[in-house]
Amino acid sequence: MSTTFQLDTSTSRANPTPAPMKRLTVPKIMRRKVDGVTEEPLVMLTAYTARQAQLLDPHCDMLLVGDSLGQVIYGLPSTLPVTLDMMVAHGAAVVRGSYHSVVVVDMPFGSYEASPQQAFESASRILAETGAAAVKLEGGQAMAETIRFLSQRGIPVMAHVGLTPQAVNALGGYMARGRSDAEEAKIVADGKAVEEAGAFAVVIEGVVEDIAIRLTEEVAIPTIGIGASAKCDGQVLVTEDMLGMFERVPRFVKKYNDIAAVISETAAQYAEEVRDRSFPGEAQVYPAKKD
Ligand code: KIV
Repeated sequence: MSTTFQLDTSTSRANPTPAPMKRLTVPKIMRRKVDGVTEEPLVMLTAYTARQAQLLDPHCDMLLVGDSLGQVIYGLPSTLPVTLDMMVAHGAAVVRGSYHSVVVVDMPFGSYEASPQQAFESASRILAETGAAAVKLEGGQAMAETIRFLSQRGIPVMAHVGLTPQAVNALGGYMARGRSDAEEAKIVADGKAVEEAGAFAVVIEGVVEDIAIRLTEEVAIPTIGIGASAKCDGQVLVTEDMLGMFERVPRFVKKYNDIAAVISETAAQYAEEVRDRSFPGEAQVYPAKKD
């Protein structure tokens, strides 16, 4: 799918006038997997701001407002300190900046685990205040009752199994999962439990490839891989990782560019021109009014 943007620079660059287009829906995403096969893999990237969403939206089927924004945007050590207020603010910005993709907002740590009722309060706030179409939460069998509760009340849920970063303290780190038979059995059972509970899709993160392939074959809902397998029904990456904003990235990231270098070089050039007074130049200053 490709389309164009018309940015209304005379008003606000943050509020573009997009070409009218229908947004994808959760049922349409689900229908991309037919009889266990997804002909055209689902494309998902994280987005945290309106401008980023504008740029990514034409290329994606889904935008994920991931709680990875804790590390990526706020410089936090993990996703654990991310709050519901942060997710709502960034979720609303991404919805404002997009018109094609299904926007999925992560439920932050502590906002859903206590009970299905707590999850409903948090998820309904996210959907009402952001305009997003779905929420994502981490966990498999342990979250099945909550996923069922939300799904039956009109809240589409994307589940997240395998390496679940909010459980970093229990897992002991961010290493790949599924290296033992017991771990494999747990990941597969988690995937099947969230499907049975009504999740519309499931993220499989950081698992041994065979397990991702097995789960993709054994569940009817789309699987979205990250550090999983190209045979998943779709892929997601943290956009800043994909762009090359960070020196250190997990093994499963492919850096498609070196935006960190572009920013450093551009800032260095700007600094030089400020210091030698060649910026602002003639083109950037307002000439005197001539009567
Ligand atoms: O928070 C996030 O960005 C995520 C993706 C990495 C799947 O959960």
